[in-house]
Amino acid sequence: MIQAIGVIGSGTMGNGIAQTFAQHGFDVRLVDVSAPALDKAKATIDKSLTKFVDKGALSAADRDATLARLHFSGSIDHLADVDYIVEAIVERRDAKRDLFAKLDALVRPDVVLSSNTSSISITDIAAATTRPEQVLGMHFMNPVPLMTLVELIRGQSTSDASMELAESLCTRLGKTGVPASDYPGFIANRILMPMINEAVFALMEGVGTAEAIDSVMKLGMNHPMGPLTLADFIGLDVCVAILDVLHEGLGDPKYRACPLLRRMVAAGHLGRKSGRGFYRYA
Ligand code: NAI
Repeated sequence: MIQAIGVIGSGTMGNGIAQTFAQHGFDVRLVDVSAPALDKAKATIDKSLTKFVDKGALSAADRDATLARLHFSGSIDHLADVDYIVEAIVERRDAKRDLFAKLDALVRPDVVLSSNTSSISITDIAAATTRPEQVLGMHFMNPVPLMTLVELIRGQSTSDASMELAESLCTRLGKTGVPASDYPGFIANRILMPMINEAVFALMEGVGTAEAIDSVMKLGMNHPMGPLTLADFIGLDVCVAILDVLHEGLGDPKYRACPLLRRMVAAGHLGRKSGRGFYRYA
């Protein structure tokens, strides 16, 4: 029975993943190399849980119990006896492979190691360990406490048992695990990013204004958010990075990032996080 979860990386995704596991009764150890990032994660989780309480979706006692199940640390040494790992550190192949090699030497041989990577090959990460059959992708969506999808990515060697375990954990979190193969962008970004990129090309060519493009997709296609608004939310630098992975990995020019998207990133207009993207944020 899985009870103790190690989450590594306490940024945008890691703190949401840690909160979600803790809300569903798991003991969570959240590790980050950056002390300010851990402090920020604590504050973010506190705020998010309090929002649930204010909305009547969580009792104050459940919030306190959730917080008591969360432990913060600056070192992976505190993960030696966990039952399951979710890695959510920076999206860099070398950093992930290095961490997985260390985790492989640290945790029990039966423990499954999962990565929240958006685009790096699970097979490649798994090859840094001696247990590739127990490595898979567990790709949560942002914001994690609210979004119900988790893409479960099967690497070349991932066993059925590891996939089944991850799927059962998704169920315990009240989420739906959907299996995907280890190809660049998996399912979500393979389909989402070309749509966002096409919206940027349409803007660049003057087919419509940003507002017009977003309105068409919202009102005409029933999307809850237009593609340019969504790109601002994801971060335009992240969009370019994922498109580059699709372009390089699949070799088709249809995945090349729109020059306007690259120009905006070069200008520091990264979306919400920088206060300016396709829209301005106060
Ligand atoms: P982030 O930049 O907000 O957080 C990353 C955290 O990892 C930072 O706090 C950093 O200090 C920490 N870190 C870096 N190296 C570390 C190490 N070796 N050991 C421990 N901590 C380390 O990044 P974000 O956005 O949370 O992304 C994390 C992962 O989740 C990436 O693989 C990304 O592709 C993926 N992802 C991101 C989504 C998003 O909407 N931001 C959506 C789905 C997946």
